[in-house]
Amino acid sequence: MDHFLYRNGLLHAEDVALSEIAATVGTPFYCYSTATLTRHFRLFQDALAGLDHLVCFAVKSLSNQAILRLLGDLGAGMDVVSGGEYRRALAAGVPGARIVFSGVGKTRTEMAYALQNGIRQFNVESVEELRVLSAVASEMGAVAPITLRINPDVDAKTHEKIATGRKEDKFGVPIAWAREIYSEAARLPGIKVIGVDVHIGSQLTDLAPFEAAFTKIADLTRALRGDGHEITRLDLGGGLGIPYTTSNETPPLPLEYGAMIRRVLGDLDVEIEIEPGRLIAGNAGVLVASVLYLKQGEGRDFLILDAAMNDLIRPAMYGAHHDIVPVREAPAGAVQRPLDIVGPVCESGDTFAKARAMPPLQADDLVAFRSAGAYGAVMSSEYNTRPLIPEVLVHGDQYAVIRPRPSFDEIINRDTIPEWL
Ligand code: LLP
Repeated sequence: MDHFLYRNGLLHAEDVALSEIAATVGTPFYCYSTATLTRHFRLFQDALAGLDHLVCFAVKSLSNQAILRLLGDLGAGMDVVSGGEYRRALAAGVPGARIVFSGVGKTRTEMAYALQNGIRQFNVESVEELRVLSAVASEMGAVAPITLRINPDVDAKTHEKIATGRKEDKFGVPIAWAREIYSEAARLPGIKVIGVDVHIGSQLTDLAPFEAAFTKIADLTRALRGDGHEITRLDLGGGLGIPYTTSNETPPLPLEYGAMIRRVLGDLDVEIEIEPGRLIAGNAGVLVASVLYLKQGEGRDFLILDAAMNDLIRPAMYGAHHDIVPVREAPAGAVQRPLDIVGPVCESGDTFAKARAMPPLQADDLVAFRSAGAYGAVMSSEYNTRPLIPEVLVHGDQYAVIRPRPSFDEIINRDTIPEWL
């Protein structure tokens, strides 16, 4: 459930008509709903209630500081994958003690910065990284708390580009090597082992791969304890999928996910961490665009929008589906017709949908892409020198621009022309 509903024939975010925001902010823009973000975060809190746990929001999915502040104030921790994301989380007011640092390619600079400013744990992804982290921490006279990310060789049955837990993927260490690496970790001076980490992929629509992975993690935890390690924390990653169409998708609910975690890991007496991104942010955001042209083609017609692949890359990159709806509700019984929905960027890949059944639309009408809150704004670029689009946060009947549209000067003046030219 989200808070984007038609009222008096206009699509609203909570109590604000998207057309009202469009009139002041201009299009295209992203719009997020506070009530939806809050509700989704609480679903995870409720799902894990009774277990010692921390829900760490995956910052990569939606990293605006206003969103991080909102979730942080609700008690969320943060899962970051770069020094930039770490700084954002701190700047938003989340203490280092609630930030976990994931990712296969952490630099020495990033490690040192996080150690200096406070970190809950590093999720270490290789023995090579472990040794560097130990050296960096030792030089600083610090000790880095770590989990080791385990690659359990489980197929998440999701899109090829976002499956991360198979042995051919670059993530984590093979589960068969884990005990040996933990025993090296225990001997390293700059390292303190505290737990085990796993993340098998994103947009999972079935609990079975999670359960297979978590079962392996439970067995490994027992073995590691047998080896003398103190395992007090399990980080289970993110990945729970969302419905991208209103019709036919029913991914498992957080409550079912929580029940499974309890069943598989409940007797281990560990603190549970999870790192959801998409389920919290995905359906809490829309991308609003204007129709520029309804262009007639040979055998197909094109709806040309002012938003493009640089603003929302998921359709071009993963063939992802986003529902696209008119902001002014189509009259009941309106005849739909198939349209190719595209942006202005000079590539055929700049196509959001092919032969999508759409109600009557004309130039200047507004449309909203649903489920665009996660991996939308964060993956946008300035390709074709198109400015990054604004982000707006709605809260009841109020809204605020939480990232303004930059001027062309701001973009163009970042370039410098060498004096010899
Ligand atoms: N933890 C780690 C270590 C991750 O790599 C990810 C996502 C998450 C947590 C959050 O997963 P979520 O709960 O959001 O599924 N750009 C792609 C998704 C990439 C996901 C990358 N890792 C997309 O637009 O579908």
